Amino acid sequence: MPIEWRAATRELLLGNGRLTYGMRVLDDDTLGHLYLGPALHGGRSYAHLGAPDFAGFTNRIGTPVALECPVGGSGDFRVPAVAVAFPADGSGVLHLRYVEHRVMAGKPPLPGLPSTYVEAGDEAETVIVTLRDEPSGLIVEVATTIFRDHRALARSLRLRNEGAAPIDLLGAASWSLDLPDAAWQLTTLSGTWARERHVVARPLVPGRQGVGSTRGASGHEHNPFLLLRRADTTEAHGEAIGLSLVYSGNFRAEVEVEPFGSARARVGLDAEGFGWRLEPGAEFVTPEAVLVYSDDGLGALSDTYHELYRERLARGLWRDRERPILVNSWEGAHFQFDEARLLGMATAARDLGIESFVLDDGWFGARDDDTSSLGDWTVDRRKLPQGLGHLAQAVEALGMSFGLWIEPEMVSPRSRLFEQHPDWAIGVPGRPRTESRQQLVLDMGNPAVVDHLAMVLGDLLGSASIAYVKWDMNRNITEMYGRTLPPDRQGEAFHRSMLGVYELYERLTSRFPAILFESCAGGGGRFDPGMLAFAPQAWTSDDTDAFERLRIQWGTSLVYPLSSMAAHVTAVPNLQVGRGTPLATRAAVAFFGVFGYELDPTALSPDERAQVVDQVAFYKRHRTLFQRGHFVRLHGPFDGDGNETAWMVVAPDREQAIVGLYQGLNHPEPGPRRLRLRGLDPAVTYQVSLWPARDDDLSRRNEGPRGGDELMGAGLSLAAGREEIESRGDHWARLFVLERRGG
Ligand code: DGJ
Repeated sequence: MPIEWRAATRELLLGNGRLTYGMRVLDDDTLGHLYLGPALHGGRSYAHLGAPDFAGFTNRIGTPVALECPVGGSGDFRVPAVAVAFPADGSGVLHLRYVEHRVMAGKPPLPGLPSTYVEAGDEAETVIVTLRDEPSGLIVEVATTIFRDHRALARSLRLRNEGAAPIDLLGAASWSLDLPDAAWQLTTLSGTWARERHVVARPLVPGRQGVGSTRGASGHEHNPFLLLRRADTTEAHGEAIGLSLVYSGNFRAEVEVEPFGSARARVGLDAEGFGWRLEPGAEFVTPEAVLVYSDDGLGALSDTYHELYRERLARGLWRDRERPILVNSWEGAHFQFDEARLLGMATAARDLGIESFVLDDGWFGARDDDTSSLGDWTVDRRKLPQGLGHLAQAVEALGMSFGLWIEPEMVSPRSRLFEQHPDWAIGVPGRPRTESRQQLVLDMGNPAVVDHLAMVLGDLLGSASIAYVKWDMNRNITEMYGRTLPPDRQGEAFHRSMLGVYELYERLTSRFPAILFESCAGGGGRFDPGMLAFAPQAWTSDDTDAFERLRIQWGTSLVYPLSSMAAHVTAVPNLQVGRGTPLATRAAVAFFGVFGYELDPTALSPDERAQVVDQVAFYKRHRTLFQRGHFVRLHGPFDGDGNETAWMVVAPDREQAIVGLYQGLNHPEPGPRRLRLRGLDPAVTYQVSLWPARDDDLSRRNEGPRGGDELMGAGLSLAAGREEIESRGDHWARLFVLERRGG
């Protein structure tokens, strides 16, 4: 059994042969933490690993005690997991004591919130530990799931007021993890628009450190994730702990190092600006946190997140399906199109082998630029006189599927919707509202808004043959105020608006199960596990420059699978950085994701068309490998001078693999280096070929049969003659395709 209860010592040990997580009810009934680390034998007590008791600190110094659900105000001066205020007397002191626990097969769903799930009861086991604050009647249920086949645990707290008076919840972390030492480096995925999820690492220092969002979305700036790794942890070796929050709104991911050198890591809702009134009988459920522990390096940690999020977080028909290669109209046409132009683009794309045509922004209301019409989800007859249905049919007649862009949560001040319902836009009555991209955010915490959008967008999606939806969200929330909430419940506004977004997603995805949804937020501004539960892929970034994308996709891959990363080839000079990169390099980067194009295919030269035909055929041939393979990071854009990147994807049965090698600036005389691969079958002989095919040194040195043992032990040869090096130029890329020849 993955979960063992040792009654004599009141220990709970969760283990699956890859990791063990230990908790213990301490002598004073506080829930203590014992252990997180490599798998320990079952049938033994580990009670000695934790302190016996925690009755507050009885001396001036206060030795830290490891706790599962810490609270403030009674001697633990570290950041609490749960914080409350009791309106009856204004106090905020809590004593959460063990009442009972129950173990169950499987994993219960979280009401209204996205979460990981199981398809069979034996895939996971869950223990729910009930804690109670006797004077107030506050119940906290700590539900922890261990997955049978993954190095992963999931946790959520359920808080219930069983008392007679209201309780104000001021903060509730989804996971608070006490670690016995602080000899970790903290890594976060941070950046901003067009450079999302860069890998940022720093050693832990005393005090609190971390990242978060107060923007109403997880944000471009920081992902709801933190990674702790030892100084000597590499991709293939060493310890790492990940905490990932399945949530798309305001969050905090942080670590506190206290004076004795222990560390408390926690992820959850951001307490800043958060409050939740729990009336007697009411419940509050925190978003889920997913903890991954690896003692086999970062690669194994990422593998775990990839498998779990691809197969047991993403849902629906498209979870396991191959995703189509699409062309998106945005960078090719922006707002300037009519039906003839769009069909011209679609026809040209079809001739290149592209499978789907997606009409981006600009098709509705009177939207000729970004100053109007959000909220008016009816087709602009000036541009499309015969309507969307006609366009969709015409695209289908070409043998392609049709996709459409929407931005449901927004309203333009210049729109019919705003004229009719100015009070649906978020803002404090009597105060100015900050506009961003000339738009305002709808109050998704207002059920009338969600009902309206479910109806209007439901009608829209039912009105034409739409196979794909890109759900955008182009600004963050300012002047937050929930008009349907009373003054003393305004702290609920952000979380309620997130719950409203999830509800709308749930309604539309269940009403249109055949549609492939892709989430987007001005690029990757809401690329998080919460969104993945509804949309199995996301627009990774508005920055499609091949060199910039290496960093973005590398960082994103720490947590998110390739099947979630939409990656498109766009025209040069690149719109975000003005850089020119070879077409082959742009494709060689975008292949490692859900591949597509975002340009005007009618503007391609004959040579470019021939290249695109080859690229599309290449991706189709290897699509399953790219979308479902096991991703291995070899050499990173955040290592050294960042000039060289190498990564690979390996089929689950290890019969095929593709290695991507990328170089930023070209340098003379690189020397006879080798690139050692990982994750192959040492017993298999692979036929190595290069893409694009060239008659050059690199091909001659590597093409042919090579053992998996040799490719991992000695590696590919990167040597090339001077002439060949001189001809490469900057932003060069090459792929090595490995296919099994025989055992
Ligand atoms: C931001 C998205 O990231 C782009 O891909 C595009 O859809 C624009 N919005 C359209 O306004």
